[in-house]
Amino acid sequence: MDIEHVRSRFKKHFDGSEGSVYASPGRINLIGEHTDYNGGFVFPGAIDKGMVAEIKLNGTNKVRAYSIDLKDFVEFGLNEEDAPKASWAKYIFGVCREIIKRGGKISGFDTAFSGDVPLGAGMSSSAALESTYAFALNDLFDLGIDKFELAKIGQSTEHNYVGVNCGIMDQFASIFGKAGSLIRLDCRSLEYQYYPFNPTGYKLVLLDSVVKHELASSAYNQRRKSCENVVASLQKTHPHVEFLRDVSLDMLKEVKSIVSAEDYMRAEYVIEEIQRVLDVCDALEIGDYETVGKKMYETHHGMSKLYEVSCEELDFLNDIAKEEGVTGSRVMGGGFGGCTINMVKEDKYDAFIEKAISSYKAKYNKNLKVYDVVISDGARKIC
Ligand code: GLA
Repeated sequence: MDIEHVRSRFKKHFDGSEGSVYASPGRINLIGEHTDYNGGFVFPGAIDKGMVAEIKLNGTNKVRAYSIDLKDFVEFGLNEEDAPKASWAKYIFGVCREIIKRGGKISGFDTAFSGDVPLGAGMSSSAALESTYAFALNDLFDLGIDKFELAKIGQSTEHNYVGVNCGIMDQFASIFGKAGSLIRLDCRSLEYQYYPFNPTGYKLVLLDSVVKHELASSAYNQRRKSCENVVASLQKTHPHVEFLRDVSLDMLKEVKSIVSAEDYMRAEYVIEEIQRVLDVCDALEIGDYETVGKKMYETHHGMSKLYEVSCEELDFLNDIAKEEGVTGSRVMGGGFGGCTINMVKEDKYDAFIEKAISSYKAKYNKNLKVYDVVISDGARKIC
């Protein structure tokens, strides 16, 4: 994250003035995909890529925001009817509105921001942006909002101003991230535990297919709807069921003839995936990385064949990982494009990366991007 670059752009666009600088990261997720909005478990960690913003109160009731990367400037007020048109600015506006709805008193500010977390690659650039502003405004206006609520402000921004009915994982990881640790989060109770993650002899690497998740938001919301349909059917006979988290595979079979075949497949994936997170935690506790890897492949299979959020390119990268003896590999994040996350033995790393890059180029004529993962701290003030 290039802090000096943000500082110099801010100075240039806002008459040489200086504000405070804040940053929030994107995230990886070792396992537990599409489980968060089903009340299940996830296992993310913050990364060393994210968003940096400089902010200074301007004494008006207007926000003047500059996206350094897009070279785009937008000004908006803080009332509901002042929503900006630029999609990037909706994230900042949404965070402001969600703070105001919670009783937070804020006023206008000048801001410039930039990020090095790739957009649309499944590393949660949007959560990084939301968390940066939620954290910063809470600090600058001394609002006293706790970290759980800061994460929820980001999530509500997605729901109410972006149109994605996401779970809490990305914003939680971006706010609560801790260097060197993954977070096992129970998305129903929001209880969480840090798991120091340093698998000796292995590397975690992301392969970015550079396929952007197109149509992702509507397809994402449809997946969520399928899960809710199954829950609604089960509630008739099992009134305690609140989320798919409360449903076993045997219970699911009871509604097989009532729900659509598609909804059934989606629920099957989620129920199995929630269990896989717990299995991976158990395996990590005894340093059993082979089991961790095996579960990652199972997740990929489920996301591709049951939940149907993979794509041809990601399946291809998963196959290469298998062929090269990579311990674990799967599509990461919401899907429909973006990255695979791979856990690979150090001695197999070079051959794997080389093979992946060359075969991907030969097959799709696209340049794969490779990101080594450094698990890092969450939202913070830099200066
Ligand atoms: C996106 C959403 C998260 C989560 C993942 C899939 O990143 O923002 O809430 O549902 O997809 O695990």
